[in-house]
Amino acid sequence: MLILGIETSCDETGVALYDTRDGLLGEALHSQTELHARYGGVVPELASRDHVRRLLPLTREALEQAGRRLEDVSLIAFTQGPGLAGALLVGASVAAGLGLALERPVVGIHHLEGHLLSPLLSQPAPEFPFIALLVSGGHTQLMRVDGVGRYALLGETLDDAAGEAFDKTATLLNLGYPGGPALANLAETGNAGRFDFPRPMIASGTLDFSFSGLKTAVLTRLRSANADDAATRADVAASFQAAIVDVLTAKSLQALDREGLDRLVVAGGVGANRQLREELADATSRIGAKVFFPPLRLCTDNGAMIAFAAALKFPRGIEGAASFPVFPRWDLAAAAQSTPRR
Ligand code: KG4
Ligand code: ZN
Repeated sequence: MLILGIETSCDETGVALYDTRDGLLGEALHSQTELHARYGGVVPELASRDHVRRLLPLTREALEQAGRRLEDVSLIAFTQGPGLAGALLVGASVAAGLGLALERPVVGIHHLEGHLLSPLLSQPAPEFPFIALLVSGGHTQLMRVDGVGRYALLGETLDDAAGEAFDKTATLLNLGYPGGPALANLAETGNAGRFDFPRPMIASGTLDFSFSGLKTAVLTRLRSANADDAATRADVAASFQAAIVDVLTAKSLQALDREGLDRLVVAGGVGANRQLREELADATSRIGAKVFFPPLRLCTDNGAMIAFAAALKFPRGIEGAASFPVFPRWDLAAAAQSTPRR
């Protein structure tokens, strides 16, 4: 069964073709980074318009790569939420339109479920149950995953998401948008031991996170230190990254311990962070646990994770008509049990 996956929840247009027998056959992606860079963040209306422009050419590109025709697609999957309403609607409309034209069923996929299941695309794939650390621009969550569709939320951020903290701190360092990868790059050259930034809630006894204070600590430090020189900026970046990575690592270990599990799966854009990967690999190996990461290109938003999630959820396809609504705010643990309200 050939599944077309469409992702348009934010600033990446992603399309992919996943075959339940042959695996991932085609992937096409367009990042809107340049489009939004001059505004310092994602402009929702511009994002939607760009998805409109890109979606069909990218679909053609993915089909060409896969050596398949549109008629070969048996199921169309799109990101139904959470995300920017207008951006989601572009993916939903194109999916529904293709579904009607081809007389194929259309399914909506939860964006975080896409991220959550994407590490299963790598080999060896983790077995259930496992702990998932979901770290994206909009979410920071620890989940217990017992199977496809069986997710229990263990803890989450009370304020900024980890990716958001990276992005906002990058803005303080004038690194532009999107800041996360730029900050991580700068951190590579800095001394992480120079500034002792707080590790918020690291010993709170819960699996929740809080990152907004960390950003304020960076701001205070930048104001007091003479931070104009390149070395100091790199040291601030490295020290900030160390703080956030320490907290994510400690809480992940606490979650493994609390649930009595020894498999950790990392998903979402911040999962591309090299320092986080290294620290999690070290920490889990010290306690005899294993950590799984999606391939780097599948960490950030993409169509493959949407097609793949649909393959796992509907391995024999589904009967039925096109679906259309989108859910800009949508809780994954609750979504596993019921259909969201609009
Ligand atoms: O999952 P994602 O592509 O989009 C959302 O669903 O939010 O995650 C994007 C987030 C952004 O905040 C970005 O700055 C962050 O992931 N990010 C990184 C790195 N690459 C992407 N943060 C730290 N280090 C990186 N290498
Ligand atoms: Zn994402």
